[in-house]
Amino acid sequence: MKIKAVAKDILEYKCDVLIVNLFEGVSKPGGATGAVDKALGGAISRLIKRGEFTGKRCSTAELAGCAALGAGRVVAVGLGTKEKLDVDAVRAVAAASMNKARSMKAKTVGMVLHGTGAGGISPEDSGGAIAEGAILGLYKFDKYKTKKEKDAGKDDGVRELTIVTLDAKGAAAANKGIGTGEIMANAANRARDLVNEPPNVLFPEELARRAKEIAKGKKLTVRVFKKSEIEKMKMGAFLGVAQGGHNPPVFIVMEYKGNPKSDKTMAIVGKGITFDSGGLSLKPANSMEDMKTDMSGAAAVLCAMEAIEALKPKINVTALVPATDNMPGGGAQKVGDIVRAMNGKTVEILNTDAEGRLILCDAICYAVKNKMSPIVDIATLTGACMVALGSVRTGLFGNDKKLIEDIAAAGDRSGERMWHMPTDDDYKELLKSDIADIQNIGGRWGGAITAALFLEYFADKTPWAHLDIAGTAYIDKKDRYFAKGATGMAVRSLTQLALDMAPR
Ligand code: BES
Ligand code: MN
Ligand code: ZN
Repeated sequence: MKIKAVAKDILEYKCDVLIVNLFEGVSKPGGATGAVDKALGGAISRLIKRGEFTGKRCSTAELAGCAALGAGRVVAVGLGTKEKLDVDAVRAVAAASMNKARSMKAKTVGMVLHGTGAGGISPEDSGGAIAEGAILGLYKFDKYKTKKEKDAGKDDGVRELTIVTLDAKGAAAANKGIGTGEIMANAANRARDLVNEPPNVLFPEELARRAKEIAKGKKLTVRVFKKSEIEKMKMGAFLGVAQGGHNPPVFIVMEYKGNPKSDKTMAIVGKGITFDSGGLSLKPANSMEDMKTDMSGAAAVLCAMEAIEALKPKINVTALVPATDNMPGGGAQKVGDIVRAMNGKTVEILNTDAEGRLILCDAICYAVKNKMSPIVDIATLTGACMVALGSVRTGLFGNDKKLIEDIAAAGDRSGERMWHMPTDDDYKELLKSDIADIQNIGGRWGGAITAALFLEYFADKTPWAHLDIAGTAYIDKKDRYFAKGATGMAVRSLTQLALDMAPR
């Protein structure tokens, strides 16, 4: 789908479906929508008066009497109340509009620049949000449907989305936003594809192949360490998880050097459990259903690298992905085993289902050893984080106030909302092992926090932050611009973080 903004008169603009908007609680539409209302002889005002269209966020209504316009059909979309309109609302409104247009079999869509007038959003931000909302909102994963909707003639998809505004400066700014928004949303959709793949297709070596595919022809380098090399690096905690399954583990390192003169490199570390059965501490059957998604952190960091490379911030970023299944095979690690991580620290395994922290601790050791800073890890780490925050906010943990603030700000901008969780020293008591340096579980309470503190132990003094995306990476019902399934959580905020951290 091609997306652009043009400076034209919306009344004359030719397209299959034109999208105008309306604030909730407003009886007389203004701006571009007001002009369209007038040209349609008050069609929108009449719907409002009759209570058939209230402007409720993301609701839509088709308008009658388009002969006076360039557009074939016109749809009004609700913005919600003026007070609650923000950039993320524009994403949702764009997604709802595009889904409506697709259901009307539109090939070309014209759209007003949502929220820039009375809404107070800048044309650049609105253009970016419309592009992101449209691309994220139209996403679907139908690769494994042998009969595609488009074959059935139900859906050919929208080919062109054009934002129409009278103001040439606004159109130029919107185009700038669109460029960034397209890159971010396409990268997020690529992550969604990876997460939605079944675990018989996406095993560790296949994930490594996909990483190479992402890097191909771009300024990204990929190195894949195989099992024997992981052994040489002495990543004993990672290898302990991998030994229960047949698929060999891989350790993926992807580099972007946007500032070759600097010796500073940010590490983004993604949990790459391609299937989590729990290992010998086996999960019950229903808890296993979504466990192909336990590589969502890996997908997020690899796809963020794609967006970062395209946007070229002057900063060095390296993505690290330990990838393995967590299986209960005959060679599986046992409850009570003690393993030694890359930094020499010993870990007592008291639950093999707390495997994410075991693969991540070795990846964090690798980052520390190679003097990367800061370190940001992303993981579907704990059910406890889902209990705490549901599927609305991602858990944010860390040992560095500035880094935490920067990540939370990048998250807010992206609509990937986060919540800073506590990591008081008192919780560390729970990880004390009787016979090893640390144990891999901290008991029933505060499970998301003890998991984070386990990782902090390996980050040592390096500035580090951790995103627990267990509740937000994969959703079981539609939300804003996301269909049910993978969301690509953290791709856009990690990319935003790299942009924010780079000198401009
Ligand atoms: N991958 C799971 C966490 C998870 C649960 C992600 C649900 C997404 C949805 C993780 O490896 C896990 O099993 N964690 C355990 C830790 C416990 C054994 C300390 C959990 O949360 O129950
Ligand atoms: Mn697990
Ligand atoms: Zn897991």
